[in-house]
Amino acid sequence: MRLRNKKWVKQYLQDNENFMINPEEELNAYKVFDSNRDIFLEIGAGKSKFCTELAQQNPDVNIIAMEKEPTVVAVGLRQCLKKQNITVDSLRNLKYVITYLEKYEKNIASDSIARIYLNFSDPWPKARHAKYRLTGRKYLKIYNRILADGGEIHIKTDNDGLYKFTLDEVIFSNFKIIANESDLYNNAEMMKNNIQTSYETKFVDMGIKIKKIVLRKKDGQPKRDNEKQGS
Ligand SMILES: C[S@@+](CC[C@H](N)C(=O)[O-])C[C@H]1O[C@@H](n2cnc3c(N)ncnc32)[C@H](O)[C@@H]1O
Repeated sequence: MRLRNKKWVKQYLQDNENFMINPEEELNAYKVFDSNRDIFLEIGAGKSKFCTELAQQNPDVNIIAMEKEPTVVAVGLRQCLKKQNITVDSLRNLKYVITYLEKYEKNIASDSIARIYLNFSDPWPKARHAKYRLTGRKYLKIYNRILADGGEIHIKTDNDGLYKFTLDEVIFSNFKIIANESDLYNNAEMMKNNIQTSYETKFVDMGIKIKKIVLRKKDGQPKRDNEKQGS
């Protein structure tokens, strides 16, 4: 998601520095959150609808929302904090890191994350862009390193191509599929506690089926992890 630059963004993010993790520093979860609770990481948080609701529904979990676009974070956070039921105080367990996953992952310790959310990641439909898809094997390898044993990846997409690609890439990873639904809104069990993201609302309104895959990290290391990224 891209938004046009806005003059107030830099100042707004500075004024809300309590929400921010320094993208240049190693992640010290205790320092950042003042507690050692489980960490859920959302990659590509967009306008924050999902991460703010997740933080409020799970006060005993610490949430990191990663997003590469500062304007998107500022616009989203400002919108969320205007909602009556969302206060700064109710989001003490939420922090943002404004950066690219590819740049920041080295700052995340191995086995330190309990769950990763990938909500409506950019599908990169052209074959030559397949290497940018956040569910490709190169990325699954990063997630395998940073996730704790038994850690999970929760993936939602509107895009049939990305859905199929993801299922194909899992074969080359150290993850097993524990849930796979091609029509989430017709699966009452999987819809329990579903939090709609901004993109999800648009796609549901358009009548597009939402797909969801949940992956769990297998014990031990992957046997084969040197295959080339497919398309
Ligand atoms: C299609 S939007 C979806 C936003 C949100 N998850 C939702 O469902 O409403 C994808 C978001 O991921 C962010 N993004 C894409 N690649 C990223 C990366 N490598 N690191 C961090 N953020 C990324 C984009 O800037 C964009 O805001």
